[in-house]
Amino acid sequence: MTYVKALRCRECGREYPQGPAYVCEFCFGPLEVAYDYQAIQRDISRKAIAAGPGSIWRYQALLPVQRASQADLGAGWTPLIKANNLARALGLRELYLKNDCVNPTYSFKDRVVAVAAAKALEFGFDTLACASTGNLAAAVSAQAAKAGLRAYVFIPADLEQGKIVGAAVYGATLVSVQGNYDQANRLASEVADRYGWAFVNINLRPYYAEGSKTLAFEVAEQLGWRAPDHVVVPIASGSLFTKIWKGWNELAEVGLLDGQRPRMTGAQAAGCSPVAAAFATGSWDIRPVKPWSIAKSLAIGNPADGHYALKVARESGGYIEMVQEQEIAQGVALLARTEGLFAETAAGVTVAALQQLANRGKIGRDEVTVAYITGNGLKTQEAVAGALAPALVISPTLTSFEQALAGQISPSDRSREAEANTHTRRESFQK
Ligand SMILES: Cc1ncc(COP(=O)(O)O)c(C=O)c1O
Ligand SMILES: [Zn+2]
Repeated sequence: MTYVKALRCRECGREYPQGPAYVCEFCFGPLEVAYDYQAIQRDISRKAIAAGPGSIWRYQALLPVQRASQADLGAGWTPLIKANNLARALGLRELYLKNDCVNPTYSFKDRVVAVAAAKALEFGFDTLACASTGNLAAAVSAQAAKAGLRAYVFIPADLEQGKIVGAAVYGATLVSVQGNYDQANRLASEVADRYGWAFVNINLRPYYAEGSKTLAFEVAEQLGWRAPDHVVVPIASGSLFTKIWKGWNELAEVGLLDGQRPRMTGAQAAGCSPVAAAFATGSWDIRPVKPWSIAKSLAIGNPADGHYALKVARESGGYIEMVQEQEIAQGVALLARTEGLFAETAAGVTVAALQQLANRGKIGRDEVTVAYITGNGLKTQEAVAGALAPALVISPTLTSFEQALAGQISPSDRSREAEANTHTRRESFQK
């Protein structure tokens, strides 16, 4: 059974039966899944959750499907890493990283697709589809392959190679649109109307979006059923950001959260920052932009949930930060060098925002902070390759290696090394 009461319009509150619907017929507001929280509170417990599967389905009571589909790929229950080295580099006391790079197709999108695909099967669709900035394409393609569904994914033509191969390999039909994401998405909406396919982020959007709540549920559980003080989340359409907020609220509603809800801060890149721009000017209106960011996964110029993201940031006492384009690769490198975690450009935006917040005193030194690392770095190698130290190129001899090493080491390093060698020699004499 599920605890879903209806689909409810976020603007006028009108309710609709559960179906592949996403927009209110009266006011054109977006529909959202509404639950019977009293019944959930009666039936749910921390113990039962802890005994559940090691995936998003441990929170089934707070999801709109009865159970994982037979074809589930096992998304979720990813590690929460205590990031002491990065915290030290940023001047923070307690920082954690939610590592969603380790999902089945290497991004958090496996969570949302798991829910949408289960719903698509329940509704009897035979084709799974999406408009994607890259990560969703892979998640939809892999999930469709496992479920035996046909898949069509609409992507902007200029995506990174890792994103294209990472979706095509599962056998989906890639529709490479010569335009940006917003144009691909508009086209996908027309196709959804005409072909009756299950577009996970269009006609199944209310269900799809629910999957992101599990990123709040898991962090709370991993911290001993508490929320952190502050979280930082990358924003494209704003769905992930607003649904993480819904997650904390639901945990509080059903009595599973101890303490306060966190401050919610969103992160965008300068080349595509319509939500951050509205936040900075105190406006409630999102002005669509033409994206040109290297953080292609976040390049949505007309974000569907932008307005709600502004609301969440303001209501929770957080911010929407904008980081410079040149800081993105540096953010990726800083994360890799301090924590041994290679994440994609969206994480570069998140880490750069974290640094900016810490520098400007917007994150208190003592605030327990969680940064959401939402996608794997192997997908966006070209964004950082140019910023890394080149390899030492040598012939296969010890002399060649030592020449290269000598060329690499600065004079001060060399004297330190010489000193260290003397110590080692002295110690071996003493033995
Ligand atoms: C890696 C990554 N992080 C974050 C996001 C933001 O998601 P949303 O569109 O829900 O704001 C995306 C969206 O594609 C993404 O690919
Ligand atoms: Zn309405």
